Amino acid sequence: MSRSPDKPVIEFDHLSARYAADPLSVYREMRSRCPVAWTDAHDGFWVTSTYADVFAASRDDHTFSSRNGVVIPSESGLHLLPIEVDPPELRAYRRAMNPAFNPRAVAKLVPEFERLAAWCIDISAALRSEIAERRLRPRDDFLSTLVQIDIEGRRLTDDEVTSILITTLGGGIDTTTALIANALVYLHHHPEHRGRLARDESFVTSFCEEMLRYYSPVQGFARTVTTDTDLGGCALRRGDRVFLSWAAANHDPLVFDRPEEIIPERFPNRHTSFGVGAHRCVGSTLARAEFGVVLREVLLRMPDYSLADGGVRYSNIGTANGWHRLPARFTPGRRVGAPAPGSIAHSEDAE
Ligand code: HEM
Repeated sequence: MSRSPDKPVIEFDHLSARYAADPLSVYREMRSRCPVAWTDAHDGFWVTSTYADVFAASRDDHTFSSRNGVVIPSESGLHLLPIEVDPPELRAYRRAMNPAFNPRAVAKLVPEFERLAAWCIDISAALRSEIAERRLRPRDDFLSTLVQIDIEGRRLTDDEVTSILITTLGGGIDTTTALIANALVYLHHHPEHRGRLARDESFVTSFCEEMLRYYSPVQGFARTVTTDTDLGGCALRRGDRVFLSWAAANHDPLVFDRPEEIIPERFPNRHTSFGVGAHRCVGSTLARAEFGVVLREVLLRMPDYSLADGGVRYSNIGTANGWHRLPARFTPGRRVGAPAPGSIAHSEDAE
């Protein structure tokens, strides 16, 4: 680390193999020496490492804007809604989206998840025709909601609907699978928790929060400074980019007792894994429901699973802290004949 009075400089690259190997030690070191610091990686940006700074900057969307994108390096192309919009413009989008993700809406979806423990979605090819179809014949689904909503007196364009879907699906898939994969790895090493998780709903809740905190499926998102400001004792200039590290905040010893230990019953657990402030994850209830369903399905139907050789973590965890492959062994039980995605017929003959 080198230091000028208000600009400590560190070597930090959240996309590097070094970071992927041990992100917590990077933040531990930063917190003890320079909680906010500058790195020259990817054209230069600030990095935060304390809960207080991440919280303060995320809530001050006037100073720390999402408008120029929330990833480092910046990605050109589509302007992603609503994640790259600041309040007050953001509010109309969130008002329109929130009902589809509130606890009541999610509860209605849970039986569907239970039928389909795993499914996957191909969005690219079919998307435009699906949008056109819903404009003509709306159904009871999220896409129909999007084509019908009123944002300040007008309908969303096809590009806006596509942008929201890309953010929602992109934000919803890799994150939740990363969370589930890390939990399954943890339970491979700690089978003593499996029986209780299969039976005790409230234990699943605290376990889920601790998996979210410890593994921080999204390690951090970026903001752009709109006006000269001070964060953690550093002078940030207009136009600077800042990496708000949810992972660092989640391991801050000023907020969490024994932060680098996994404590499945941890309470309270005010982690930042779903973000903080106006952009806080719209899908958090859905993610928690998916986690609970998949965990229970696995623990009830494959209670003796163990991981086999050949697991491969993402070499770069800056976007999602997940796994490419996670082979496992288990004693096969009776098949329940879950129908394929989109089908309604029960396939008893699938065995
Ligand atoms: C474990 C799972 C998940 C994690 C860790 C996660 C994490 C996050 C975080 C940190 C943000 C804040 C972005 C920011 O401050 O710039 C966010 C926003 C968002 N998430 Fe999630 N997410 C998860 C699951 C989901 C799911 C299941 C969906 C929907 C299907 C979803 C859709 C979104 C959307 C649309 C936004 C943007 C909200 C806005 O900009 O106002 N996420 N998520």
